Amino acid sequence: MSRAWTNEAVRLIEADFNRSADTHLIPVPLIGAPGISLYLKDESTHPTGSLKHRLARSLFLHALCSGWIGPQTTIVEASSGSTAVSEAYFARMLGLPFVAVMPRSTTAEKVAQIERYGGRCHFVDSPCAVYEQAEQLAQEIGGHYMDQFTFAERATDWRGNNNIAESIFAQLAQEEHPIPSWIVVGAGTGGTSATIGRYIRYRRLSVRLCLADPEASVFHRHLEDRSICRVDGPSSLIEGIGRARCEPSFLPDLIDLSYAISDVASIAAAHVLTKIIGRSCGGSTGTNLWAAAQIISAMKTSGETGSVVTLLCDSGQRYQSTHFNKAWLTAHGIDLAGAVDTMERFFKTGIFDDRSAFSPTL
Ligand SMILES: Cc1ncc(COP(=O)(O)O)c(C=O)c1O
Repeated sequence: MSRAWTNEAVRLIEADFNRSADTHLIPVPLIGAPGISLYLKDESTHPTGSLKHRLARSLFLHALCSGWIGPQTTIVEASSGSTAVSEAYFARMLGLPFVAVMPRSTTAEKVAQIERYGGRCHFVDSPCAVYEQAEQLAQEIGGHYMDQFTFAERATDWRGNNNIAESIFAQLAQEEHPIPSWIVVGAGTGGTSATIGRYIRYRRLSVRLCLADPEASVFHRHLEDRSICRVDGPSSLIEGIGRARCEPSFLPDLIDLSYAISDVASIAAAHVLTKIIGRSCGGSTGTNLWAAAQIISAMKTSGETGSVVTLLCDSGQRYQSTHFNKAWLTAHGIDLAGAVDTMERFFKTGIFDDRSAFSPTL
């Protein structure tokens, strides 16, 4: 592999980072829970619109510095969409062809974005088929299968280097409760939860990590019973989080608590939050909020004060044809009214009283 080309590729990625600002940590008003602060790390403001921008940058640097990518390498990735958008951006920056292997159900907005960056989309019928198809395609064309599901946990520098955890703690430094009681995240590859979980141990912080997981996902089941590593059945409607297989980058021992959350609850929470903060939020942000609300409610009930941090993973603009589309919701038999009510009541009272809510599984 030409070292000159690799040097230049690394410089281009570092220069992009140098031009970019950090993402905001937004306080969310919680009238009903005085003494408790809720913050959203707004990852939708990255140049490619989601927290996957961090991952894509790390994966490219890791692959470049491992000598796996050269000037003629086609990059192939298995994705539910967000990672592919971000990788298409970096592939174009380096002048490399990019192919995303994705489920056919991926939103039109994400497909358009990948193609805008010059990427090609290869669709598969079953979300479980993406790994094998991507690997096979890379072999056939002599490309490089990036494999975010294997490499997410090791491509990111979990000790620091402005990873998402270090950034959150730096931004909390002047707050009333600078060390949060809880951080709530979803898992797709598991990379984000791995980075945060390792960082809080490395820094010897008392923060606990909560996983907000779609009902259809295997992760929360695996946390209860380590022998469960796969689930069958329809996958979640929340893109980016929840998987049918336990991904290699998901590190279960770093999770202190998990909630299984229905798609209806996630979408309803995304709708309510979008109105309250005036920023558009995607479905997985709703999943995070549904879990955070239960934690905050329990803190309030026990008289505990402190802060809770969760992620605004991507914008609802990416889901205008699905989660924010009345016809789509009706076609999927989704009625948001009850869950919207629960979430609105939570914001007024600080108490989460949804009867259908799952209890903590840890
Ligand atoms: C859209 C989206 N993609 C992916 C993820 C999960 O990230 P990771 O792959 O690091 O587990 C999230 C997490 O919250 C998300 O909202």
